[in-house]
Amino acid sequence: MSRKKMKIVISIGGSILINDLSSERIKRYTDVIYEISKDNKVFIVVGGGHIARRYIKVAKDLGLNNSEADYIGIDLTRINAKLLISALPEESVYNDVALNFKDAKNFSTFKDIVVMGGTEPGHTTDAVGAILAEYVSADMFINATSVDGVYDKDPNRYKDAKKIDSLTTNDLMRIIGEAKMDAGLNMILDILAIKVIERSNIKTYIIDGRDPKNILRAVNGEEIGTRICL
Ligand code: UTP
Repeated sequence: MSRKKMKIVISIGGSILINDLSSERIKRYTDVIYEISKDNKVFIVVGGGHIARRYIKVAKDLGLNNSEADYIGIDLTRINAKLLISALPEESVYNDVALNFKDAKNFSTFKDIVVMGGTEPGHTTDAVGAILAEYVSADMFINATSVDGVYDKDPNRYKDAKKIDSLTTNDLMRIIGEAKMDAGLNMILDILAIKVIERSNIKTYIIDGRDPKNILRAVNGEEIGTRICL
């Protein structure tokens, strides 16, 4: 008897997908996503990457406020999402970028892969991933980033920084608590995402997404990256 399909939400940071933009790079991710979709329902949330941050900076230099600049970031995440859709086999993916959570859920009744970008100002696509995971009652939320997990201190600044295999939402809140929440700001997981993960006890992994195969490893239950628990 075949097992029930798991629902998996994967947030792919723009920094890993887009910063080194090429069709080959996008294909490496879509190959993995397609593989996962053979046995699961897959919801992908795509980030904005450095392109979004550059646009946001210029928009703010031109006088736009944070929310207005956020909308520019959101548009860019949706363009990235459209690129990802273009690289997937037509029969596997819903052809439109989902603009909100209800659409994403509806689209998933037609195809095994649904892709979206940002939704509203005031948070990043990490929060979109967490809310989507909550909304579709996902079995797993994977946050694929450009670091190999969460560290006890900034690994770029401290040589003795240690990677943490699992930590609570409270610990994570403390680590990132001091960061400001400006348009275009880059941090491990945004505060709204952590709150949503906490209130719905979402099984969450922060993994090194620079190698797309790590996403497959996480789906297959390998203990990689950092697991978030209550
Ligand atoms: P992200 O910060 O989610 O992109 O969105 P990112 O590239 O994934 O970040 P990395 O890769 O993890 O470093 C880019 C910007 O778009 C706006 C915010 O300004 C955000 O910083 N945005 C995105 C929103 O306002 N709302 C959203 O739902 C998503």
